[in-house]
Amino acid sequence: MERNAQDGPRPAILFVCLGNICRSPLAEAAFRAEAERAGFAVEVDSAGTGDWHRGEPPDRRAQAVARRYGVDIGHYRARMVRQEDFYRFSHIVALDLDNYAELEAMRPADARAELSLLMDHVDGRRGEAVADPYYGGEAGFQTTWADVTAGARALARRLGAAK
Ligand code: 4NP
Repeated sequence: MERNAQDGPRPAILFVCLGNICRSPLAEAAFRAEAERAGFAVEVDSAGTGDWHRGEPPDRRAQAVARRYGVDIGHYRARMVRQEDFYRFSHIVALDLDNYAELEAMRPADARAELSLLMDHVDGRRGEAVADPYYGGEAGFQTTWADVTAGARALARRLGAAK
């Protein structure tokens, strides 16, 4: 495992939702920004449990909300989560409870990746899902951004403190 200049193993985080075009790319972007701000090196990626959007860029509404907060995610491409991810990443973070259950079911018995729900990292929001904004309007994406930012900040604080 690579190491930080400050030392300690470099964490590798994978965010997982259903389609990998709305919530998990936004969580990936928010977490990258938080890690950068906190000044620690980290590998970050996102994936989906479904394959309908494989190879596609994020939903244009997700791209728009990210852009509004100064982040370009137009080059991200959707992919499916795979079993190797449980060895490559130190932390796999589900956006909702269905994603969590799917990940738990596919997790190899000897894999060391820590599996968690994103909102479990946020004080007072244990067990909450980041709601799927895909079938709703633009406003839902604003809520998604607020949720993933809160989750990313809390997770980055925890990992940064542990580094
Ligand atoms: P995501 O949103 O899981 O946040 O990327 C969705 C994207 C696509 C679909 C469902 C949810 N879909 O059914 O195609």
